[in-house]
Amino acid sequence: MKGLAGKVAIVTGSGRRQGLGAAILKRLAAEGCRVVVTDLGTPGGLLGADHIGASEEMQAMVTELEAAGAEAIAIPCDVRDARDVKRLVELTVAHFGRLDIMVNNAGVGYLMKGFTEVTPEEWQVVLDVNLTGAFLCTQQAALQMIKGGEGGRIINIASQAAKSGFPHLAAYVASKHGMVGLTRSTAIELAEHGITVNAVCPNHVTTGLGAKQNAYYAQLSGQTLDEFLASMRKRIPLGRPGLPEDTAAAVAFLASDDACYVTGEAMNVSGGEEMH
Ligand SMILES: NC(=O)c1ccc[n+]([C@@H]2O[C@H](COP(=O)([O-])OP(=O)(O)OC[C@H]3O[C@@H](n4cnc5c(N)ncnc54)[C@H](O)[C@@H]3O)[C@@H](O)[C@H]2O)c1
Repeated sequence: MKGLAGKVAIVTGSGRRQGLGAAILKRLAAEGCRVVVTDLGTPGGLLGADHIGASEEMQAMVTELEAAGAEAIAIPCDVRDARDVKRLVELTVAHFGRLDIMVNNAGVGYLMKGFTEVTPEEWQVVLDVNLTGAFLCTQQAALQMIKGGEGGRIINIASQAAKSGFPHLAAYVASKHGMVGLTRSTAIELAEHGITVNAVCPNHVTTGLGAKQNAYYAQLSGQTLDEFLASMRKRIPLGRPGLPEDTAAAVAFLASDDACYVTGEAMNVSGGEEMH
């Protein structure tokens, strides 16, 4: 990919070894980017402990990236907290001297239940992480990129759920549709500064939060996980579920010079399952 060597990239929610964020970090680092591993660090409240990138995992990610020859640092950040996000960008610039790429990947999609049972707190936490978090990170990144005067790339990890509805995931689907609206509006406003804003819309990936969704839907439809995954393969024209590396490749392209004329796009990475 052209133009990525030496660029500085933040990938939010990238502290979990199995998550899409880790794959994005590794791909950007392999393309020569200097990268910031950032995640919640300390899980709490409704976000639970079993699906959150913890501080030790973030450090392990830095060690792995450094072993592969990359420059990396870890900075904990709760994307719901405006002060945390401001500090994330400030510390990144203090360490690396610039910010070129912001990947809004932090997300919550595992609070699944029938719409009439969703509590206001559950609705709010999903919207806060997935949409308000992307707003705060986009705003701070844009302010820094404008100051830097060399443009930049903002990439929102949305979802197939940004294009279609899914049962038992109303808050998630609403937040991801909102992310595409945020992408389109900010793409128009930030274009004059040479900043492109795009979204990537993966279908079900069988790692990270996708694994939880797949297990839940298998149970909901009375299928074993294997049966559910087989039916998924059948309806995906390219015949397999997504891999974290598929999303990472799309991010690398959108971050590269080759994508300099692409903005406001919500790119499906779904093996042909989602086409609009
Ligand atoms: N896995 C899939 O099938 C799939 C498909 C489409 C889109 N996505 C999107 O990709 C992104 C990554 O998903 P994943 O599958 O790797 O799931 P994941 O659960 O492994 O990753 C999400 C990360 O976000 C972090 N996070 C949660 N709340 C946070 C907060 N308040 N502040 C900072 N970080 C926070 C978590 O700790 C976790 O590391 C999400 O935005 C998700 O919606 C995933």
